[in-house]
Amino acid sequence: MTTPTKIAGYDYENVDPAETPVTQEALDLLKATLLWDDTTDALLRRVGELLEKQVEDILDLWYGYVGSHPHLVTYFDGPAGEPDTAYLAGVRARFGQWIRDLCTRELDEQWLAYQHEVGLRHHSAKKNQTDGVDSPRAYVPLRYMIAFVYPITATIRDFLDRAASPDDDVDALVDAWFKAVVLSTTLWTEPYSDLW
Ligand code: HEM
Repeated sequence: MTTPTKIAGYDYENVDPAETPVTQEALDLLKATLLWDDTTDALLRRVGELLEKQVEDILDLWYGYVGSHPHLVTYFDGPAGEPDTAYLAGVRARFGQWIRDLCTRELDEQWLAYQHEVGLRHHSAKKNQTDGVDSPRAYVPLRYMIAFVYPITATIRDFLDRAASPDDDVDALVDAWFKAVVLSTTLWTEPYSDLW
């Protein structure tokens, strides 16, 4: 795995597991709900191998998608009400690392704690703080958090197809990626609801 050392604002090792309200048991039940098993872990590792060299291309595509939708890119606005390029770039580096982490990390208490942190960073609790942006957008709405799962999943197939070998079952790889994105995003919605 690529070990990140200099990604600004990437605090994976520094977040305190004691501060996440989500228990390991809740994580296990979410995984069971997603029909997650050992095969899923193995498939996800393979997804990580196939995507590793394509992370920048994936980010280009996803940023193109966000950038071409004014109702989405507005959440990267700076004080002037225009997308802040430094903010976009800062998040982009951490977004790339999220792809790597999702495919390669153990889903242990540290991973769980960082998912809580990322949720807070989309929520009004912490949005804009990491990059020090004075943005008029205080939070990313929950509805877009959920809906974004679709493009993040649908667009990955081409990248997997491109790198896969004949032995790979690309449908199964996409399925494992889909489960992982749903798991991650579901954890990020915890700060948004008392009924989580
Ligand atoms: C499946 C849904 C989503 C995924 C996988 C995702 C992924 C990420 C990741 C990995 C980060 C960086 C986390 C870190 O600091 O380490 C991030 C931050 C951010 N994302 Fe998302 N995101 C999602 C939904 C959205 C949506 C719908 C928007 C709206 C445009 C959005 C806007 C942002 C913004 C503005 C930040 C920076 C937050 C801050 O100020 O710290 N995200 N996202």
